[in-house]
Order: sequence, then structure tokens, then C-alpha cells
Amino acid sequence: MAILPILHFPDPRLRETAHAVSAVDDKLRELVDDMLETMYGAPGVGLAATQVGVAKRLIVFDISEARDTPQCLFNPQILATDGISEREEGCLSVPGVYETVTRAESVRVRGRDRDGKTVEFEAEGFLSHCIQHEIDHLNGKLFVDYLSGLKRSRIRKQALKHRREKL
Ligand code: NI
Repeated sequence: MAILPILHFPDPRLRETAHAVSAVDDKLRELVDDMLETMYGAPGVGLAATQVGVAKRLIVFDISEARDTPQCLFNPQILATDGISEREEGCLSVPGVYETVTRAESVRVRGRDRDGKTVEFEAEGFLSHCIQHEIDHLNGKLFVDYLSGLKRSRIRKQALKHRREKL
């Protein structure tokens, strides 16, 4: 396993649309393991392949308190949504920024697991937000896109300044 470098906003690669995975093979399972290790190491509760520069429709997440329930979904799809809820979100690609985002309270999700088997389930609350957030990444969308233009440009400026200071 390996820790992968995480792309940071406003890296243009975070704006790419990821491609569907046709077959889950050992190479993709290795990517899942690397992404999980990267997510746990960060630490974070979710990570999309887009964030590590891989334009494939794959997300990993673990919202358990004990951090012992790693999950992955290939080609995740939201089949239905219900309700509205506001939650504070952060993102490993936008470090240090936490803002309230409004999303569906519950979602019905379909995807494929690490064996390529189709799975379908209902997600509520925090997990619902997490999955919607990660699927957004696969479509080139970031949680800061839900904020006002003024707020987003302030975050962008801070991120660019931070990056210059690191160089
Ligand atoms: Ni994120």
C-alpha cells in the first residue's frame, strides 16, 4: 500500500469528469487500498479518485468512529434523494476550510464493490452528505462551489497564497 499525494484546490485536475470503470481488477483493488491508506493517514472520512489525480469513478469512505469500516464504491450513482439537511463539511483538497453545505438528507445509492458486485443501499445524515460530496468530486465539483462567490474567491486566494508560501 502507498500514500498518494492529494490534489489541492484550485488544481484544475479537480475539475475533470471521471470515467466509469468497466471491470474491477486487481490493479483497481490496489488503488482502493492506496486511497484508503491515504484517507486514513490524512485523516479524512472520504476520498474520491479524482483527488489523487486518477480520473476514474471510484470513492472510498469510512464514517465509523472506530475507523474500522473501510468502504469503496465504483461507479457510484444516486438513484433517489429525499429531504434537505445542512451540515458542516470539509475536504482533504481544501485543507482547513469548514463550511455549511445544504444537501439531500437521504439518498439511495448504487455502485459496485471491490469484487465488482452491484450493491444498493440507503444513506442518511452524515453518510448521505459524505457520499454526495465524494460523487461531486467525480463530476469535477467541490463543496466550495456551494458557497457564495465571495467566500469561494477568498478561499481560492488563501489556497494560492498558502501554496506560494510552501514553494
Ligand atoms: Ni472532498
